[in-house]
Amino acid sequence: MKVLISAEQIETRIDALAREIAQVYQGQPVTIVGVLTGCIVFVADLIRRLDLPVRIALIHASSYRGDATSPGQLTISAESLPDVKGRHLLLIDDILDTAQTLSKLVAYLQSLQPASLRVAVLLRKIGRQQIPLEPDFCGFEIPDAFVVGYGLDFNDEYRHLPYIGVLPQHVPKG
Ligand code: XMP
Repeated sequence: MKVLISAEQIETRIDALAREIAQVYQGQPVTIVGVLTGCIVFVADLIRRLDLPVRIALIHASSYRGDATSPGQLTISAESLPDVKGRHLLLIDDILDTAQTLSKLVAYLQSLQPASLRVAVLLRKIGRQQIPLEPDFCGFEIPDAFVVGYGLDFNDEYRHLPYIGVLPQHVPKG
């Protein structure tokens, strides 16, 4: 496994991100809306560093399974989402790839009339976005490779790794 971003790099960046986010919200209560399952490690680490009143909500969005990154029909499951009308929402996902997933989630959450909606991603793949979506907070920009670890999976494996890695068969050539 090639390590792309080490556990130490992630820790340092999340400290900085938490400060950026707290600075923007200026003490206002925030509802974190985490996108399952990839967000779990990122959300868990970020919220413990956030100096803000925080609520946690989770939403499930699935567009594909396994080893493909081409988006299919997106299914949003939001049964466990609390009432978010009038609240400041921070939508958190593990990775911004084509932006199909986040753009649909943003549209869905906007329809619930929050007071505000911002987006935070741990990773953003360079040169892959098909829909213009500027995340308000981004941990790292990465090359176009299939990454795992720190919540990200390949066939539901590797989510527990403390670093972001690239599987040998997915290391870009050149
Ligand atoms: P889109 O293309 O909608 O994709 O921006 C976002 C979702 O696709 C998954 N994804 C990945 N998962 N390694 C993964 O483990 C990757 O390199 C990767 N690229 C995209 C992920 O679920 C993300 O929320």
